Amino acid sequence: MIMLDKFSINAFQRDLIEWFEKEQRDLPWRQDQDPYKVWVSEIMLQQTRVDTVIPYFENFVSKFPTIEDLAKAEEEKVLKAWEGLGYYSRVRNLHAAVKEVAETYGGKVPNTVGEISSLKGVGPYTTGAILSIAYGIPEPAVDGNVMRVLSRILSVWDDIAKPKTRQLFEDIVREIISKENPSAFNQALMELGALICVPQNPACLLCPVQEHCKAFAEGVQKELPVKSKKKAPRAISMAAVVLKNEDGKLLIHKRPEKGLLANLWEFPNDEIISDLQTPKEQLTEFLKTGYEVDAKIGQAFTTIEHVFSHLIWNITVFEGEIKGEIHETDHLKLVSLDELEAFTFPVSHQKILRSFLTK
Ligand code: ADE
Repeated sequence: MIMLDKFSINAFQRDLIEWFEKEQRDLPWRQDQDPYKVWVSEIMLQQTRVDTVIPYFENFVSKFPTIEDLAKAEEEKVLKAWEGLGYYSRVRNLHAAVKEVAETYGGKVPNTVGEISSLKGVGPYTTGAILSIAYGIPEPAVDGNVMRVLSRILSVWDDIAKPKTRQLFEDIVREIISKENPSAFNQALMELGALICVPQNPACLLCPVQEHCKAFAEGVQKELPVKSKKKAPRAISMAAVVLKNEDGKLLIHKRPEKGLLANLWEFPNDEIISDLQTPKEQLTEFLKTGYEVDAKIGQAFTTIEHVFSHLIWNITVFEGEIKGEIHETDHLKLVSLDELEAFTFPVSHQKILRSFLTK
């Protein structure tokens, strides 16, 4: 591979791994190489920062210590343990995949690319991370951090937002990964990306592989990686309502099993589209036609902004009172504040509740 001309693979592996063995952070998923725990941690670490993941990881593996425990757990309990982490399809896929491992592989995480990558939610990155860290198999585990590090080391100017570029980096890692210690090698690239080769102002003077770094030699480390901007998230206006009945119970709704925030609970809400009606009028009509709920909507008491990767919700939140009977279903419930604890809410609706309780 032309990019690796004059690149000293052996010296690079040695310097990188030596540094990692000395400087690696003491992280809870590094206590052992249990493939299940490696798997859980790598799923959590996708799209979420290490500091945020630590307490979730500890809680999750104490509630569900083994494949069998997670496989037999109720979906509601599993979702609850993920509450606030976001990207909930990760945990739905993990739960489904763990059930498959329990049934098909006798509870043992498989150790081949073909078998692992056929599991729900397990893409090339997670496959490589589990195989290398848990099983010592030299497979690439290339995420955004690894692409940043290697784009600088080898001065690669391909756009890392393009799917093809990840493949290029996987090909590179296949060439340079340590066959003796692929676990340390892959984790060292991640660790270097987290501690030294950070996005802004990389700490090149402290870098253990500075002498191998083409971007540093050329003084272009801050221009790499090349990453095209994804389009700005679309903003939508929503109205939500915290509805009380005469016993002080609140009305909550379970989202559909497919799509954004699938199966999580929420306060009744609707996108505001018409400008012929006020949000209050729209909500009243939505409750009537959507849920057969008669309600008197009162004041708006807060607005909440929530940013997803592709979407921004601007929610105006009302309070209101239920008039008449509610026909409770699996997807529509009246619950007391104590009972509310057991249901999983997206962060935006946790904020709605907190704001309601402190107003
Ligand atoms: N980011 C992704 N995987 C990681 C790991 N195993 N350790 C630290 N940071 C990570």
